[in-house]
Amino acid sequence: MTEATDGPRWQPVGHGTPREQEEEVHREMRKFYRAGSPPWDTGVTPPELVALVEGDDALPSGRALELGCGTGTNALYLARHGWEVSAVDMVDLAVERARDRAREAGVDVRFEYADATRLDGLDLPGPYDLYFDLGCYCGIPAHRRDAYAEGLTRRAAPGARFLMFGYGFEAFPDPVSGVDADELRDRFADWELVDVTPGTNEQPTAWYTLDFVPRTGRTP
Ligand SMILES: C[S@@+](CC[C@H](N)C(=O)[O-])C[C@H]1O[C@@H](n2cnc3c(N)ncnc32)[C@H](O)[C@@H]1O
Repeated sequence: MTEATDGPRWQPVGHGTPREQEEEVHREMRKFYRAGSPPWDTGVTPPELVALVEGDDALPSGRALELGCGTGTNALYLARHGWEVSAVDMVDLAVERARDRAREAGVDVRFEYADATRLDGLDLPGPYDLYFDLGCYCGIPAHRRDAYAEGLTRRAAPGARFLMFGYGFEAFPDPVSGVDADELRDRFADWELVDVTPGTNEQPTAWYTLDFVPRTGRTP
């Protein structure tokens, strides 16, 4: 998130109260969309998702939920490949662009302007066979991460898969952002971390694959 761009720069977050931390992340994200095309908004679906959808061991298409979908590149990709897709992002500008793209392309995706840590109250019951998160979770303040995990766990179909890309803690000039394998193992108690593949970015990044394996009895 600190990689050089000619546009806005990511300002450190996470020094205020929990509520202020959420507002800071929202403000920083919105700043990038307001300025135009954010540096992460490449319009290219990553090969890791393509492999899951089109590769030798591709998942059968089903119901997918993308968390932090931005302008919708990957939700649209999934829908074009036979998935029934819902996608949420907390920045209104991103969701508006995603909806416009879906309309222009004639592709059916349900884009919701919503917080990925507050899915209750939305009409997103699942059950989901696939969750996809490209750079959202790693920016979520710590006090909201359990709610994120619980929201996904409660809506997971048997055998659900979760593919996440995240920046490591070292990538952010702040005390709260980032993700690593240990954190995911602790927080996603009903999931098994089955793969961690380092990313190719200059910053520390990784692709995490988790499979739904209910253990705690809190889930259906
Ligand atoms: C690094 S961007 C990546 C966007 C998109 N996945 C892509 O690759 O183009 C992270 C996205 O997560 C969204 N986001 C961050 N926290 C969120 C939250 N709590 N709920 C929903 N969206 C969130 C941001 O608004 C932003 O669009």
